[in-house]
Amino acid sequence: MTSKDEQLRTEADEEVKKHQELVQQDPYRLRYHLMPPVGLLNDPNGWIQWKGTFHLFYQWMPFKTDHGAKFWGHYSSEDLVNWNHEKIALTPSEWFEKNGCYSGSAIEHEGRLYLFYTGNVKGEKGNRETYQCLAVSEDGLDFQKEGPVVRLPDGYTSHFRDPKVWQQKGRFFMVIGAQTTELKGAVVLFSSSNLRDWKHEGILIGGGRGRLSEFGYMFECPDMFTLDGRDVLVFSPQGLEPKGMNYLNVYQAGYVVGSFDPETGQYDHDDFHELDHGFDFYAPQTTEDEAGRRIMFAWMSVPDQDEQAHPTIAYRWLHNMTLPRELKLIGGEIWQLPVLELEQLRIGAAIIHNVQLDEEHVELAEVNGKALELLIDDITVTDGWWELTIGGAVRLLYSKGVFTLERKSYVDGAFEKRQCEVEQLSSLHIFIDTSSIEIFVNGGRKTLTARFYPLTNDDSIRFGTNGFATFLVHKWRLGTKKMSNNNLI
Ligand code: FRU
Repeated sequence: MTSKDEQLRTEADEEVKKHQELVQQDPYRLRYHLMPPVGLLNDPNGWIQWKGTFHLFYQWMPFKTDHGAKFWGHYSSEDLVNWNHEKIALTPSEWFEKNGCYSGSAIEHEGRLYLFYTGNVKGEKGNRETYQCLAVSEDGLDFQKEGPVVRLPDGYTSHFRDPKVWQQKGRFFMVIGAQTTELKGAVVLFSSSNLRDWKHEGILIGGGRGRLSEFGYMFECPDMFTLDGRDVLVFSPQGLEPKGMNYLNVYQAGYVVGSFDPETGQYDHDDFHELDHGFDFYAPQTTEDEAGRRIMFAWMSVPDQDEQAHPTIAYRWLHNMTLPRELKLIGGEIWQLPVLELEQLRIGAAIIHNVQLDEEHVELAEVNGKALELLIDDITVTDGWWELTIGGAVRLLYSKGVFTLERKSYVDGAFEKRQCEVEQLSSLHIFIDTSSIEIFVNGGRKTLTARFYPLTNDDSIRFGTNGFATFLVHKWRLGTKKMSNNNLI
């Protein structure tokens, strides 16, 4: 560790100490999600289970609730529910990363933990340089920087970042999010035999060719993996126009499914699917855990999307991660399930209601709260719509094959909506955490994720229909995750 590193870590630690009390006073602080101790959190990085322990790093700006020269914050966990806040993994201390240690990934190699990330450098004239860098650790806590291992090849602008590395058939591969000099979004492929010397294999998808030839001006945060025998590429494209119920956020996150040939670097795939249909979901990253599950975290926000209007800024923090979700490939589509470990958060037995509604609205005994899980299944709706309102700030509506999430905007208080097609609503699995909601529709076939800001004294939940509906409600009160080390919450 250099003295510059040490200085930046100390400054970040002091920032945490200075604002810790204020942060804790925020009524919208979440209870069981991961958040920054102070400042701004964005993408999940370096997500891996290494030597039995889960490590999740994150893009972190400790000094303000805005973007800038990012650090890699670091959480670890044994059970995906309770976390340790570890010391800062990467600070932007060297010339090749002086304006930010941007997003990247982790891989185990010969017992060591390797982090690949983007060194972001801004010149005086607003020009940008980008370096894909390596840092290696023996113990998963201290990282030795080795500097750039990939330089920008010809054919791309300096929007070239977010390396994700994996091993397949005895070789290492890296995908990078890119913009071509023709200003087309692309994912670029590299290969290596030793993780240090990398060969540019060319464009994997996008870049003005193939199925995604006209598909936005930049692809961020690519992630390639095999799920149920198919090769899935997740990425976050920028520059898509809204289309019906799709692409309504400023930027998107989604995937294609296909088949990747590691010999030729060719990837045949289907069309783009959005991963989530809510307001706040971006830059997801996955890993395969030791039990063989593919688990994903995403940033519960979208860049450039009214970020500075969040009320949490008054308490010196901004944004959080989604819950960890297990991915399944069913019928060529990704389904998402909250990981089973989250059941540890449940306090006591479920409150159960068998409900029948006839053109009416009801509140159910003990079905309310700030931190809760709702499982609503065996849903039948005859003639009309069915709805659920939460804290007067969120409304879920199902009507005629369309599922709608409405929320009270934190910008101007008006209601805004996101929608997706759901042929027949049969179940909803919902996680509410003070100011966040994650909705898993029909066993995780569709998900909708959002932040919302109810009146702090309103934790009501109301069910209603203008027709006839029956359903079974399970409600659990959820506890608070334990955070240890440094006492950072
Ligand atoms: C995505 C992103 C990445 C970049 C990082 C910087 O949200 O823009 O492309 O590496 O955030 O914080």
